[in-house]
Amino acid sequence: IYRAAIFDLDGVIADTARLHLAAWQQLAEELKLPWPEDTEERLKGLERMASLEVILGEQGRKFSKKEKHSLASRKNKRYQALIRSLSPRDLLPGARELMDWLNKSEIPIALASASKNAPAVLHALGISNYFSFIADPEQSAPKPSADIFLAAAHGLQVEPDLCVAFEDACAGIAAIKAAEGMTAIGVGCKSALGSADYIVSSLEEFAPKDFFLSEIKAAAIR
Ligand code: BG6
Ligand code: MG
Repeated sequence: IYRAAIFDLDGVIADTARLHLAAWQQLAEELKLPWPEDTEERLKGLERMASLEVILGEQGRKFSKKEKHSLASRKNKRYQALIRSLSPRDLLPGARELMDWLNKSEIPIALASASKNAPAVLHALGISNYFSFIADPEQSAPKPSADIFLAAAHGLQVEPDLCVAFEDACAGIAAIKAAEGMTAIGVGCKSALGSADYIVSSLEEFAPKDFFLSEIKAAAIR
């Protein structure tokens, strides 16, 4: 029986992966860079500068560190303009219902997102209140390091092996699997998330009662 839930944000709770993608695509077009077919999958879960390297590919060598930072900040400004239009309608299917169930059952929730824009996204979606702890990506090594998931468990004061974590990215699943016995739920398509402990096509499919004590059972034990 698990005691806490840890969520990735982009592509798990919020329909924002498409906004990150749109902002990167615009940059790639401006720089006349190719856009290989697997770019979308490869970008999932990667922090900002690592994503830029994927976009630049071979051309990466041509840019100085300073230029790269200015390209990444160009992308980020566009992303921030896009997330201004987010509303609760941009929650992915099942996200609110699951977080409601967890809150009612007194299962604490933490966020483990690589995005430095996560607090703004949570605010725009109206879901900041669900979270007891938001791990700071600036204080953790990027996924696939387990760092941010361990920080989230630590923030909730729950042992990692008593936490269930949700991810849509391959690097994210690897991070959870490296996090001292944490259980990984892959959200999305089986082919990309093969190493997860369980895979659901959306949070709607996840049955919390199979993993956590329900409010009624917990009250009976207490
Ligand atoms: C992850 C996204 O959650 O956050 C990536 O999946 C994104 O696409 C990364 O690059 C970093 O986000 P940000 O908002 O800090 O640039
Ligand atoms: Mg994600």
